[in-house]
Amino acid sequence: MRRNSQEENKEENKFKDKSADKSIDLMLRPSSWGEYIGQKKIKSGLKIIIEAAGKREEAIDHLLFYGQPGLGKTTLAILVAKETRGNFKMVSAPNLSKSGDLIALLSNLEERDVLFIDEAHRLHPAVEEVFYSAIDNRKINFMVGKGPASRMLSLDLPSFTLIAATTRVNLVSAPLRSRFGAIFQIDYYENNDIEAIIERSAEILGVKIDKDATRMIVRASRFTPRLANRILKRARDIAEVKNSKIITKIIDRQVVLGTFDLLGIDELGLEIHDRKLLETIIKKFRGGPVGISALAAALGEERGAIEEVYEPYLMKINFLQRTPGGRTATIEARDWLDAALYKINPSLYN
Ligand code: ADE
Repeated sequence: MRRNSQEENKEENKFKDKSADKSIDLMLRPSSWGEYIGQKKIKSGLKIIIEAAGKREEAIDHLLFYGQPGLGKTTLAILVAKETRGNFKMVSAPNLSKSGDLIALLSNLEERDVLFIDEAHRLHPAVEEVFYSAIDNRKINFMVGKGPASRMLSLDLPSFTLIAATTRVNLVSAPLRSRFGAIFQIDYYENNDIEAIIERSAEILGVKIDKDATRMIVRASRFTPRLANRILKRARDIAEVKNSKIITKIIDRQVVLGTFDLLGIDELGLEIHDRKLLETIIKKFRGGPVGISALAAALGEERGAIEEVYEPYLMKINFLQRTPGGRTATIEARDWLDAALYKINPSLYN
């Protein structure tokens, strides 16, 4: 059945919105070391590795970046490629479903290419195997043909650099991990760096934002540039719609509060799954301590995901503690959730 044109338009706009947002993301992405705010230690470590390899006229060693999503792993890899004047080629590990996919990719590499593998913890074991010889001696061996006529071929690869990125470093196999020349943990950003990133992005987007609103976005950004930029982009949408008659659109406190509502986050950037985790500890386990396995079962989540994805931010803001007896929700977490409940329904407290 043919869909009506309204539905088609909606579909088209959805696509357009997504691609528009993607091109905005590209605009906001720093394109030089000078533009890249924060992560001083990692930047200087990378610069040393790049400079030393340059002096020896060699490709830089293979690197592993790990850390929470949105902290700039891809951006850093792009900057490494720029600095070493190599092409940047990117693939997500789940898209390499057969060893042949990786062989095709590797056999098209050129000197100094930077091959960026995202979600490296999701590499298929057979594909990972091909990486070992590519990393160890810049060679790949593969079979051509079938049965008695099959032959093993060996292909020399140009000097390239593999940069692997993961949010789940514990799931990267030990043999793969041990093959990287350096491993960098990309940690949360400092508040003043997030503030500078928001100010830079607002300027690029051509939107005015007051100090109060900037501070609110910093507080809700989970110390993560991608999230800070996401809030800023949606705040710009709201400012443009609300103040459409005013020529200078400005993001202020009211606009940011509306944005939190739109995104379903609170003033500390907590999402529904964060609240669920804390509430489970508080209500089902009397505030803890609760062992990670019991908590994972109660939430229906994988233990590793809780440890590597959900807990770091909650620990960083002191809402959750890991104790020898298990996880505990802090007084601060209880107070925050109580205050949120009070805002929704003050009558409960009378
Ligand atoms: N946008 C996203 N991450 C950034 C960073 N580290 N520096 C500047 N702008 C950014």
